[in-house]
Amino acid sequence: MQTLTLITGANRGMGFEIAKALGAHGQHILLGARNLDKGEAAAAQLRATGATVDAIQLDVTDPESVEAVTTKLTADYGQLDILINNAGATHDAHRAPSILPLNVIRDDFELNYFGVVNLTQHLIPLLKQAPHAKIINVTSMMGSLSQSLNPEAETFRASALGYQSSKAATNMFTIQLAKEFKNNAIPITVNSVDPGVVATGFGGGDPEAAKARGAKTPEMGASRTIELALSDDDVTATFSNDHGPVGW
Ligand SMILES: NC(=O)c1ccc[n+]([C@@H]2O[C@H](COP(=O)([O-])OP(=O)(O)OC[C@H]3O[C@@H](n4cnc5c(N)ncnc54)[C@H](OP(=O)(O)O)[C@@H]3O)[C@@H](O)[C@H]2O)c1
Repeated sequence: MQTLTLITGANRGMGFEIAKALGAHGQHILLGARNLDKGEAAAAQLRATGATVDAIQLDVTDPESVEAVTTKLTADYGQLDILINNAGATHDAHRAPSILPLNVIRDDFELNYFGVVNLTQHLIPLLKQAPHAKIINVTSMMGSLSQSLNPEAETFRASALGYQSSKAATNMFTIQLAKEFKNNAIPITVNSVDPGVVATGFGGGDPEAAKARGAKTPEMGASRTIELALSDDDVTATFSNDHGPVGW
């Protein structure tokens, strides 16, 4: 049977690259997109390469959208093998933590934390139906508390309180959920991935300008997530990138 994989925010950026790679490896991709037209266009591109890809409307901050996806997946498939929580954004615009408006921090948390937790909680019953399921949370080195204090780290000078704390919170979700499953012998692994600095439209940025500053291509940024999604090993509660483990 084909591995069934749901990827959020997969109409562009790294989500699209993850969908392309896993589709090429024979997985059945549910390509999540908050705008279904954009999702259908991306899915058509991948279907043209021979992959099995269905677009699905999914805004992770909209409880009704999450409910609708859960109902559809339950009716159509009755299980899910892999959930990749990739959708994410930053709203901080480099403002200092002393003045960053609370509503901006809330927006970061709605998408990068509550959206991830809500969707995941809804889909756990379906993941439990798979023989060995995986949850992969695409977080960021920016969410690393230890690297934020390390003068040698790329992220030492970064200041994006809402984004960074929401990604740190999602890393804690990874740890706590992984421990819950392990302690109860539930065969679902949960891991966080740091893609690195990647030239996408992330945060409204210009991919070409990011590339000129040395950012990775979206294919490179997606590679650790793809590796985990294809791997047979059962690592859980890890935070890693292409170079190995990342400090929490
Ligand atoms: N790029 C980097 O340097 C970098 C570094 C570290 C971590 N990351 C993380 O990597 C992940 C992917 O980032 P990316 O660089 O590929 O970003 P991107 O190119 O900006 O793509 C973000 C995707 O998320 C979707 N999205 C936004 N809000 C959503 C919502 N409420 N519900 C569902 N989907 C939503 C976007 O949909 P629309 O097309 O509709 O906007 C888009 O498909 C994010 O979690 C990001 O935090 C990125």
